[in-house]
Amino acid sequence: MSKNNMPWYMNAVFYEVHIRAYCDSNNDGIGDILGLISKLDYIKNLGVDCIWILPIYPSPLKDDGYDIADYYNVHPDYGTLEDFKRLIQEAHNRGLRVIADLVLNHTSDQHHWFQTSRSEPNSKFRDYYVWSDTDDKYADARIIFLDTEVSNWTYDEKAGLFFWHRFYSSQPDLNYDNPAVVEEMQRVMKFWLEMGIDGFRADAVPYLIEREGTNCENLPETHQILKGFRTYLDENYEDKILLAEANQWPMDVLAYFGDGDEFHMGFHFPVMPRIYMALRKGDASPIHWIMSQTPDIPDNTQWCTFLRNHDELTLEMVTEEERQWMWAEYAPDPRMRLNLGIRRRLAPLLDNDPRKIMLANALLYSLPGAPIVYYGDEIGMGDNIWLYDRNGVRTPMQWNDRLNAGFSEAKPETLYAPVIDNEEFSYKVINVEAQEHDPHSLLNKMRHLIDVRKLHPIFALGAYEFLAKEHTKCLCILRTHSDEQVLCLFNLTNSVQQLSLDLAAFADRDIVSLIDGNSLGKIKLAETELELEPYEFQWLSLKC
Ligand code: NOJ
Repeated sequence: MSKNNMPWYMNAVFYEVHIRAYCDSNNDGIGDILGLISKLDYIKNLGVDCIWILPIYPSPLKDDGYDIADYYNVHPDYGTLEDFKRLIQEAHNRGLRVIADLVLNHTSDQHHWFQTSRSEPNSKFRDYYVWSDTDDKYADARIIFLDTEVSNWTYDEKAGLFFWHRFYSSQPDLNYDNPAVVEEMQRVMKFWLEMGIDGFRADAVPYLIEREGTNCENLPETHQILKGFRTYLDENYEDKILLAEANQWPMDVLAYFGDGDEFHMGFHFPVMPRIYMALRKGDASPIHWIMSQTPDIPDNTQWCTFLRNHDELTLEMVTEEERQWMWAEYAPDPRMRLNLGIRRRLAPLLDNDPRKIMLANALLYSLPGAPIVYYGDEIGMGDNIWLYDRNGVRTPMQWNDRLNAGFSEAKPETLYAPVIDNEEFSYKVINVEAQEHDPHSLLNKMRHLIDVRKLHPIFALGAYEFLAKEHTKCLCILRTHSDEQVLCLFNLTNSVQQLSLDLAAFADRDIVSLIDGNSLGKIKLAETELELEPYEFQWLSLKC
């Protein structure tokens, strides 16, 4: 694929926003769509291409909106459908795209489909959900929300039956063996696409279909249904994307790309914890290993990579031993742990050390895939482990050092969640306004990193190769696209590292830093010696 004909998502940087948490325009203590619109210039200036917004639909909010009660409206806390249309227009006017969550697997138990299903056995909605006389079917399916759920079945008094759910018991799973459900979801897609959105982050896709004797994940029938959604998209729209949330091993995610005819993008989950492992151990091996387990994907598809998101830092895709190690290192307080993960933000995880934060980001951007920035991580926001569930990483965005961090003018006690105000991460110190004015701030460094990455589509398209694998204290990645090379170097340790690289194949070329434009001289036939400061990274172009 050449730089000129690549689809937009190949070289995109995404920004994940929780509207509830971003900016409150009507001062009721809850962020809203108009608030987000007022911050679109900030987002544009960050250099990202596409905003992913968390669910905004009417919902009892038992799972912060992933429990949808009506697919065709906006939760009154967030605004109206008109506001949403304006958001899309305003974003598009600035050259930003917007994708939204498509929650396929389940609804809220408050959805009228479920309410009718449980109370009217003869209605067409009975078969919209997965009901059973017993709670012993599909026993090989794991429980995902381990801290709260004891079974994937819950008894419903009204129906006199058990219903199936992979997440909270307030989120009954839809029955995708019923073609009517598939049609319903296609209608939902159409509704939002007609409104102008640029695609969907499809939630929890591995679990659509259940079959006895399997773990009920990644089944061929599930892929058939997903391919149908893609066909619908391709037949009716242009330039829209489907991004798969499948928390699985890369070999299993491969199937979600199909032959380039299922998802355009898929999250790469397991590389994420290994970046944290590599940094804490000062050892590149976990990254070498997971990339060796990462297959090539079809040409027109792309991985989507991230360091953090709105959920716990998931440790599902690591061994038990690695999980215990990650918990011991990164979640020493039991309150920091949730399900099989860690409920902390990027900056606190990385000791609030800007060198480590920038290194982790640059490392992520150097691997194949299109990266996501989680709102607030670009300024190094902290978290609040004392809030319920995953709410501690969903606190109000910190805009300035004034009332409620500039998020809202409501009375502080009426905010949906308190702003972070602890010693190290207080909004009085960590906020957008302060960082705007400081050329060396994390925010400005992140902007520069994003700009550089986007200026060089080699990061999105290029092949990659690890160099000097035996020198595990550093990670060395050579990206190549046609006759262009970029060398990405990372010192994963707190001490100076000398690197000796065989770059004879590129002899006589200039080594130029992409970050500051400085030249490091010409490549020689002999080994090239390079020195990296503690936690330093370099992006070096090998210019012909
Ligand atoms: C994945 C979402 O990221 C998470 O927040 C949600 O709880 C589950 N899917 C269930 O929808």
